[in-house]
Amino acid sequence: MKIIMQKLTISTLSQVVLDKNLDDSIKELDKKVFIIDKNVYKLYKNKLDDYIKESPKYLFDAKENNKTIEEVKKIFSFFLENNVTRETVIIGIGGGITTDITAFTASTFKRGCRLQLIPTTFLGMIDAAIGGKSALNFNGVKNSIGTFYPAEKVHIFSGFLKTLTEKDRKNGWTECLKVSLINDNGLYELLYDGNLIITPEIVQKAIQIKMMLCEKDLYDSNERRKLNLGHTFAHLIESASEYSISHGEAVAIGIRKAAEYSYNEKMISNNEFNKINELLDKYNLPYTVSNEIKKKIKKSGEELIFQDKKAGKRVRLVLFKGFQNIIVKEIYDYQKVIDLITS
Ligand SMILES: NC(=O)c1ccc[n+]([C@@H]2O[C@H](COP(=O)([O-])OP(=O)(O)OC[C@H]3O[C@@H](n4cnc5c(N)ncnc54)[C@H](O)[C@@H]3O)[C@@H](O)[C@H]2O)c1
Repeated sequence: MKIIMQKLTISTLSQVVLDKNLDDSIKELDKKVFIIDKNVYKLYKNKLDDYIKESPKYLFDAKENNKTIEEVKKIFSFFLENNVTRETVIIGIGGGITTDITAFTASTFKRGCRLQLIPTTFLGMIDAAIGGKSALNFNGVKNSIGTFYPAEKVHIFSGFLKTLTEKDRKNGWTECLKVSLINDNGLYELLYDGNLIITPEIVQKAIQIKMMLCEKDLYDSNERRKLNLGHTFAHLIESASEYSISHGEAVAIGIRKAAEYSYNEKMISNNEFNKINELLDKYNLPYTVSNEIKKKIKKSGEELIFQDKKAGKRVRLVLFKGFQNIIVKEIYDYQKVIDLITS
């Protein structure tokens, strides 16, 4: 595998450092504390201890039901015990759950401390740690609390990927395929011709697309919404399956449904429709959900779609208006979404 070392700098957001090893600049930081995914620490203790040395560390049990205010309170106590000030660099090491909660605590403690992130999952490297969103789950609603707070630096070290489970790889692949369908920077071709191996070029190109959209629209009010491709369908599928279907698989089905919707509305050609599906086929991503989940969506789809929305029964769909040409459209006929998934 060819390793490249490159710094991608985008002025308004973070500096992303892709390195063949962990970036030594971490060692040189004067005052720092670490929030680390417990599993990652166990797997990479020897390597990480060389960067952590005597600095305080908080070991975090990275589960969705710990991405909460209760856990934030524990982290704030850890900050107080260790005299964290606005000058302290808070460093989050782990997958998206860990980087989301780290970014939230860093953005709110003392009205904002310095923040650096070291994502350790494929999804974290190309998505969760990029673009400056922090998030917490609240009262069972995912990511309902959060801030916009780009890390000053994101360190990408692909060595962490070797211990990922197949499920976590798949979650990352789906988001990677998704961005290749949003913008043309050669990523689609790399993925299409690739052999399911995560290469530094793939990681770099996926990051470039996400950063480009976030730089144009940090606060998620227009361009950035394109990144929700497949997600309206996916949220419905995930809720109906009570989260037994992984986010990656749900998004993949969602992308196929967005393509089908676009094709039915004559927004893409048959050839373009096939190009989208062929890429997902190559990565063995599913087409549809089980009959049992379809039944549930038929019965309570409306309730599931609007569970956390109070007004205006409309859904925002991210659709194809050509290959790698994305539009965001609000529709009131949400039954179409339900029919597409259950057909
Ligand atoms: N802020 C954003 O813009 C954004 C974007 C996408 C997703 N997210 C969030 O990211 C979260 C999902 O993150 P994720 O899929 O990266 O993983 P995760 O944090 O859910 O971790 C998945 C599992 O992998 C383990 N793990 C992490 N790194 C590992 C490694 N190198 N080797 C072996 N095991 C490892 C973790 O301990 C955990 O058990 C969700 O909470 C989602 O809401 C945030």
